[in-house]
Amino acid sequence: MNDLPGRAARVLVAYYSATGHVHALAKAIAQGADECGAEVRLRPVEELAPEMIISQQQAWGRHRSEIGDEPTATLDDLEWADGIAFGTPTRFGNVAAQLKMFLDQAGELWQQGKLINKVVTAFTSSQTAHGGQESTILALNNTFYHWGAIVLPLGYTVNEVFNGGGNPYGASYTSGTRVGSLDPDTVAVALSQGRRLARVAHVIGTAQERGALDARDRVVAGQDQVSGAT
Ligand SMILES: Cc1cc2nc3c(=O)[nH]c(=O)nc-3n(C[C@H](O)[C@H](O)[C@H](O)COP(=O)(O)O)c2cc1C
Repeated sequence: MNDLPGRAARVLVAYYSATGHVHALAKAIAQGADECGAEVRLRPVEELAPEMIISQQQAWGRHRSEIGDEPTATLDDLEWADGIAFGTPTRFGNVAAQLKMFLDQAGELWQQGKLINKVVTAFTSSQTAHGGQESTILALNNTFYHWGAIVLPLGYTVNEVFNGGGNPYGASYTSGTRVGSLDPDTVAVALSQGRRLARVAHVIGTAQERGALDARDRVVAGQDQVSGAT
């Protein structure tokens, strides 16, 4: 329920998932945001791996078929959103190239100051508990500091975090060696992260619209003085 005044928060859940675990987290985060009255877009980013490679790995091919017709995340979605949850599987302790490529297309939005004060939160999945969940989220967050986004950690804001992997950086699922469903504790954590994002994005989005925060268009002028700086 949206019990806050003003228009509904706009929440984008943009993610990459090869075999479905991050997709399952993304759905729970989207559901949590929806429960708080947000307008939600759930969007995978574009796949970059060759179809030949994907088809050789059963779980990857199956997941790709499942989400085949869903619209992929666009730069318009980024501009539209007050709050964004980004999800990626751990890739050698780091962000998947597919999500990174999407972020790397946001240079013009950054240059125009349009990403300032976006409320951004992150989530991940890895095979093992110590396989890089925290490093992946921290690496992902580097981009958002450059945007001037407001990075929203999960923290220990709900008790479920202690049971659902205990990661205050963001909802994280340890998938193990087999592809399967999320456990209820992890789903509860992801739902909470979605609700938290929707509430904070509502407050920040409303303040932004009312001119209470930084003017996004001032940055363009700044670019003339600091050309090429990021
Ligand atoms: C190239 C590659 C690198 C990976 N690196 C790691 C890693 O560093 N640590 C880890 O625990 N899991 C690693 N994994 C496993 C995935 O992160 C894990 O299976 C995750 O749950 C996949 O999420 P998805 O089902 O949404 O694709 C890697 C997988 C691949 C294909």
